[in-house]
Amino acid sequence: KETEQVTLDTGFVNTASCVSSITYIDGDQGILRYRGYPIEQLAERSSFLETSYLLIHGELPTSQQLAEFTDRIQHHTLLHEELRRFFDGFPRDAHPMAVLSSAVSALSTFYQDSLNPFDDEQVEISTIRLMAKVPTIASYAYKKAIGQPMLYPDNSLGYVENFLRMTFGVPATPYEIDPVVVKVLDMLLLLHADHEQNCSTSTVRLVGSSQANLFASVSAGVNALFGPLHGGANQAVLEMLQHIQSDGGDVSAFVRKVKNKEDGVRLMGFGHRVYKNYDPRAALVKKAAQDVLGRMAKPDPLLDLAMELEEIALADDFFVSRKLYPNVDFYTGLIYKAMGFPTTMFTVLFALGRLPGWIAQWREMIKDPDTKIGRPRQVYIGYGQRDYAPIAGR
Ligand code: CMC
Repeated sequence: KETEQVTLDTGFVNTASCVSSITYIDGDQGILRYRGYPIEQLAERSSFLETSYLLIHGELPTSQQLAEFTDRIQHHTLLHEELRRFFDGFPRDAHPMAVLSSAVSALSTFYQDSLNPFDDEQVEISTIRLMAKVPTIASYAYKKAIGQPMLYPDNSLGYVENFLRMTFGVPATPYEIDPVVVKVLDMLLLLHADHEQNCSTSTVRLVGSSQANLFASVSAGVNALFGPLHGGANQAVLEMLQHIQSDGGDVSAFVRKVKNKEDGVRLMGFGHRVYKNYDPRAALVKKAAQDVLGRMAKPDPLLDLAMELEEIALADDFFVSRKLYPNVDFYTGLIYKAMGFPTTMFTVLFALGRLPGWIAQWREMIKDPDTKIGRPRQVYIGYGQRDYAPIAGR
């Protein structure tokens, strides 16, 4: 809709907000590449930290660069003791995403030596601090919720191992790390690592465009990810599957409800603003779900339910005509559940994965000489001028 000065584009469906050389998506073909590398190749052959380096620095690292990057991250995993105390103040039943965003925001208060967005060294140390400390914060958010003691990080462990031990370990017993869980979780983080100008990344850029520091910008991204139409969808998918199951497992009846738009019910984990084809990440996640859940002594009936739901939806004209396919969130929750994560932690795992993308996009934005403060216009539809009426006469 055109007005004299501005074009209305609700939800920025057709508006590019920046130029970027980080992530390429072809939504019609179902193609996703980070810095030119197909997601399938990275998922099979790279690791989360190597891919994080690629996103942030633009090229795959040499072995020395990767070793240095990993080493620096490993040596910044500890939280300031005062920040650890923050967790005492949150209610036990707080959603861990709310705890995560608050604690990330608080990093600005502890690291005042690295807040200058135009100082490359400060940006680099903020990058390392975020990559290192967010997993620690995430696991403490979980420990707080279940009332277990928080474990200090163990810097002899790898990135994912350390996170798993801090999350599931207890001081009383040594934590046994399952290499299959480590491998799959590493791949899932990698699959979430960037996705160009999605809601949370656009938020990070918008906040950063005012020259706010990296911690402040990323905490805003965490909040944007919280919502069920974005990262919160992975939690919503599992809750939807559990709801269908407790309602007697009638998948067709649920699909009918979605099609009739009863109470605005949507098939969570389906549809995407950009993909009008199978989300390439969803294909990789589905395969991982089958592998991980196939190893379990007792199969999870929710996997069969999810596959039935997918099959019915993909054969139904409502979904076909709207080009609604499973997205990355459709199968991830089933894997996280099999790994032992409660549903409230699912979106936190998405945040851990998306972190290097937010950082890379913020850094690209701050270095771009054409960056302007993000300041969308509006189409005003309110009153024209009218005169103030004294309260007695209203
Ligand atoms: N279930 C049922 N109908 C849907 C769905 C769905 N999941 N998604 C879209 N539609 C329908 C919608 O009702 C509309 O139909 P109509 O033309 O009759 O009004 C049409 O498809 C277009 O939908 P839209 O809301 O205009 O599409 P959008 O591009 O604004 O929304 C979306 C994209 C991802 C928010 C949406 O597909 C959705 O709500 N999906 C469910 C939530 C979800 O899985 N989100 C995760 C997205 S992927 C990971 C991430 O980015 O975080």
